[in-house]
Amino acid sequence: MGNSQFKDTLHRSKLRMSHAASKVHHSPESSPAVSASTDQPQQQDSDNIYVKGRRYQRKNSKYPMPNDEEEQDRLTNVHYLLKHCFGSNYSAPVRDLLLHSASCIYAQRSCPTSLFSQSTVSGSNASTLSNATTTNMLKHIVEPRVLDIACGTGIWVLEMCSDFPRAQLYGIDISAMYPGTIKPPNAHFMQGDVRDGLPFPDAHFDYIHMQLVYNCFSRSESDRLLREIKRVLKPGGYVEFREVDPKLRNTGPKAEKQYQTFSRLMIERDVDITWARHMCESMEQVSELTDIHHQSLTISFMASGMAGETFYSTVEGEMEGYRRLITESMGISDEEYTDSIKKVLSECTQKRAYVTYYMAWARKPIYDHATTPSPPPLQHIMTQHDTQRQQQQRQLQQPTHTNQKREKRKSSGTASTSQSRHSVSAPPTSSREIWDKQDKTDIEQFVHGYIE
Ligand SMILES: C[S@@+](CC[C@H](N)C(=O)[O-])C[C@H]1O[C@@H](n2cnc3c(N)ncnc32)[C@H](O)[C@@H]1O
Repeated sequence: MGNSQFKDTLHRSKLRMSHAASKVHHSPESSPAVSASTDQPQQQDSDNIYVKGRRYQRKNSKYPMPNDEEEQDRLTNVHYLLKHCFGSNYSAPVRDLLLHSASCIYAQRSCPTSLFSQSTVSGSNASTLSNATTTNMLKHIVEPRVLDIACGTGIWVLEMCSDFPRAQLYGIDISAMYPGTIKPPNAHFMQGDVRDGLPFPDAHFDYIHMQLVYNCFSRSESDRLLREIKRVLKPGGYVEFREVDPKLRNTGPKAEKQYQTFSRLMIERDVDITWARHMCESMEQVSELTDIHHQSLTISFMASGMAGETFYSTVEGEMEGYRRLITESMGISDEEYTDSIKKVLSECTQKRAYVTYYMAWARKPIYDHATTPSPPPLQHIMTQHDTQRQQQQRQLQQPTHTNQKREKRKSSGTASTSQSRHSVSAPPTSSREIWDKQDKTDIEQFVHGYIE
């Protein structure tokens, strides 16, 4: 990537930064109500609140960062920094999928004919299944669909739109920072709180991306979101997260103290700022995604060139963004906070501190044990099997060892365990696990019955 993308946004954000101090204690130009002497909100509308010259969204009280132009420039800088560090806007192997492939919708005809039960499979897997399942199936080609969760300014969506003109790109964010009207025809943005769920049908997307949300959600909210991601992903679809660990490493006492304060305040707000460190584990354990790949890299305060400058300015901008949270919660003045930012930055430069960026991608399994209808209960199968065998046995009038064992089990209560297994109304957490366990027992009985 050339330096021009960095240069443009870096220049704009530097200009804004130089005005940042003077904006403190002044209302934004758009705000008619001026209250220079207090930290109270100066103006609000249905979406936003204006405090000390900065604009914040009002809907997610956990999320402490502003959403104004200054923050939008910072986000643009971080976007280019991540793109530069990881070498591209995406690491998952989705290029061919988004350039060439189309997914197939299989519509199984049911009665009446206007009703279809649909299932979609992402990318190349579609053709594999299309050969296997041909009876009563209608096939429609749909363009690949991509979702960016917490899309911010929408820059990732816009760039992906031009890289993949055949794909339909969707962005959702709690703040409408993304372009409203002037955008490519394949870009679609919507405002929404993703903690309420993802407003899309099941198995809708080929690829889902989420970047820089370490300061947005509690652990239970990100777990719920992971389950939603899995729901709206097509079988075989990809998900990718890019994240930063907010803890600066290799620092001194000033940065450490600032991190401890920040960490405590975020815990008080029930925000899990350690998301970057456990996102792989959560992908596997919470949403049972597979084929997990991850990469981490560091960038230091000593990094040279445009990337180093951009990094420094984004860290400074981030600290500036936390001004309201820290000054209000800690009861410290703006002057004190400005002074502490300077000292922390200088300490970090001196110590060659660094941050870690993380990337992880994974796939939704083609066969989803959680959502694919379970096979008929084993007891049912066994009952039919038993009935047939009992008939045969009655004819032969030669009871087998298996039957004797089964009779024994029935009288010793094993059968009631089996019954309670099948009478559980809630679906099993993993049908494979249940099947594995039961299969083993039944196979053992089968083998014992005929070999012993
Ligand atoms: C640090 S920004 C990252 C934005 C974007 N992903 C990027 O990389 O530039 C975090 C984003 O999460 C959004 N956000 C916070 N809470 C949210 C929620 N509950 N639902 C949807 N978006 C949310 C914020 O508005 C903000 O745009």
